[in-house]
Amino acid sequence: MLSIDCLDGYYGRSQVLYQVALHVAPGELVAVLGRNGSGRSSLARAVMGLLVCRGQISWAGTSLRGLSTHAISRLGVGYVPESRDVFASLSVAQNLDLGKKAGLRGAAQLPWSMSMAFERFPELARRADTLAGVLSGGEQQLLSLCRCLMGAPACLVLDEPLEGLAPDLAQRVADLLLLCRDQGLAVLLIEQKLDLTAELASRCYVLGRGEVVFEGPTTEALRAGSRCAPWLAA
Ligand SMILES: Nc1ncnc2c1ncn2[C@@H]1O[C@H](COP(=O)(O)OP(=O)(O)O)[C@@H](O)[C@H]1O
Ligand SMILES: [Mg+2]
Repeated sequence: MLSIDCLDGYYGRSQVLYQVALHVAPGELVAVLGRNGSGRSSLARAVMGLLVCRGQISWAGTSLRGLSTHAISRLGVGYVPESRDVFASLSVAQNLDLGKKAGLRGAAQLPWSMSMAFERFPELARRADTLAGVLSGGEQQLLSLCRCLMGAPACLVLDEPLEGLAPDLAQRVADLLLLCRDQGLAVLLIEQKLDLTAELASRCYVLGRGEVVFEGPTTEALRAGSRCAPWLAA
């Protein structure tokens, strides 16, 4: 279980997260929604040890507070940041290869390899020898996710993984995320594409100015006239 409780987060003196509590069980895909600037990326960064914070964050019973991003990822927590985590000067295949990690802990695992990534996403296979830096934004986003999965994570923290993807590709990535969930991974999905998110996540948290303003069924959050509407408008 990914568990966050009483979490306050800061950039210097400016507080951006207030008493956030959030839980994602293995085999569950949970969305974090909110407007730009509501604190979603900061929350993901807090989980990965990249934000100064106070409160509790744990994965599978182990506290992540005070650990380096590297140590957190070794515990099985995979992260796809907003900023597309690829090595621009290495090829697509080299990027995938570098995603592998030895000695990971964690029971749940997606059957995943470079050939499986290429089979699912022929657009990456065709560009296996292309430098990642010349891929389009959407292709880099896809590569970043595929690279993260190479590390066999048991928990996924995804910051807008569908951003910039054409509808057909976004749907295939969404299908992959459902497969991750069904294989027992705990998936925390930050997303802007609300229609697709509603199909993926039965439960969601809505952030408003760094606070959880709603927790419950995604369909309820997205329903016309919902009290979440002001917190979801672009
Ligand atoms: N590096 C930073 N330094 C200072 N403030 C930041 C930084 N990154 C984000 N913020 C602020 O933190 C708040 C939350 O931002 P962010 O977590 O990026 O929101 P979201 O991902 O929901 O758009 C915003 O007020 C934003 O201006
Ligand atoms: Mg963000």
